[in-house]
Amino acid sequence: MTIKEQVLKILIDNKEKSVSGEAIADQLFCSRNAVWKAIESLRNEGYKIDAVTNKGYSLVDDGGVFSSVSVEKRLKNDCRVIVLENVDSTNNYLKKLAENGERENTVVIAECQSSGKGRLGRSFFSPKSGLYMSILLRPTFSAEKSLFITAAAAVAVSDAIEEISGKKTGIKWVNDVFIGNKKVCGILTEAAVDFETGGLYYAIPGIGVNIYHPADGFPPEIRDIAGAVFDTEPDEKDLKQKLAAAIINNFFDIYNNIESSDFMQKYKQKSCILGKEIFVLRNETKTKATVLDIDEKAGLVVKYENGEVETLSSGEVSIRL
Ligand code: BTN
Repeated sequence: MTIKEQVLKILIDNKEKSVSGEAIADQLFCSRNAVWKAIESLRNEGYKIDAVTNKGYSLVDDGGVFSSVSVEKRLKNDCRVIVLENVDSTNNYLKKLAENGERENTVVIAECQSSGKGRLGRSFFSPKSGLYMSILLRPTFSAEKSLFITAAAAVAVSDAIEEISGKKTGIKWVNDVFIGNKKVCGILTEAAVDFETGGLYYAIPGIGVNIYHPADGFPPEIRDIAGAVFDTEPDEKDLKQKLAAAIINNFFDIYNNIESSDFMQKYKQKSCILGKEIFVLRNETKTKATVLDIDEKAGLVVKYENGEVETLSSGEVSIRL
C-alpha cells in the first residue's frame, strides 16, 4: 500500500473522529509533510477531508471515489485490492504479479482496459462504463477441478448483479452472464500448472461486467449480443465499489467451499440454456443440439439431431443460442 492508501485507510478506520497528522506520521513511520502531501492528493481525487486545528484530519465524505480502500472496506475476506485507472488486461497484470510470488486473494481492478482478453483468443471491449477485475488464486485442489472456478465466478457475478440492480440474470454455459438475451458479463479463467505436483501454481478468473451502455454504444461486431446492467450511468456514486465487493464476497463464499460442489445446484438453476436448442461451435463446424444437462463437473451434456449424446468441456467449444 502506498502512503496515500494507508493514510486513507486510517481516516476510514477513524471515521467520525479526527486524527492528528503527527499520529498518522508516527503510525506510518513517515514525515508529517508526507502525510500532508497524501491528504492533498486525496482531496484532489475527490475525498472531502476536514482539518481542524489542534485536532487533526477527519474524512467527511469519500466522494464516491473508486479506490482500493473503498472496495477493501466492504470485503468479508482478507484480500489485497489494487485499483488501476487503465491497464492492458487485468489478467495479464495479475499473471506477472503471480509469477513474482504475489499472495493469493490479490484482486486487480481496472477502470478500463486497452487490450481486454476474451475466450478463444477474442478481445473483450473494455471502456470506462464497465468493471474489469481479476482474482489471484493458488488452489490446492487438482487441475481437473479448475473448471469449477469459472462456474463459481459466474454464480458470484450473477448473484452480485441481482443484489445491486434487482434484475434477474441467467448463466449461459460456461462463463457468460445474461440479462434477458444480452450478455452483460464474460469470464476468462487463466491458470498455470505446477508440473512437479500436477496441481495449479495459480488460477486467475478474470471478470468483465458491462455496468452501463457506453456513450458511443457497443462496437458493431458485438452490438447484437452485448448488453449492460443499466441503460445509463447510475447516479449512485459508490455503485461500482459495491458491485466489485459483492462479486468478491460472493466468489469467496463459494470458493472457500468449492470441493463440495454444492454451488453447482445453483449454477444449474441459473442456467438459461437447459432444455434449449443451441449450436455447438467447434473449429469451423456448427452443429445443432439440444442441451440435456450440466453434469457435476460443469460439463455440458448435449444431444445432437442424429441422437448422439456428448458431454462438452469448455476448453474446446463455444455455443450459440
Ligand atoms: C469472454 O466473454 O470471452 C471472457 C471475457 C473476460 C473479460 C475479463 S475483463 C477482466 C479480465 N481481463 C481480461 O483481459 N479479460 C478478463
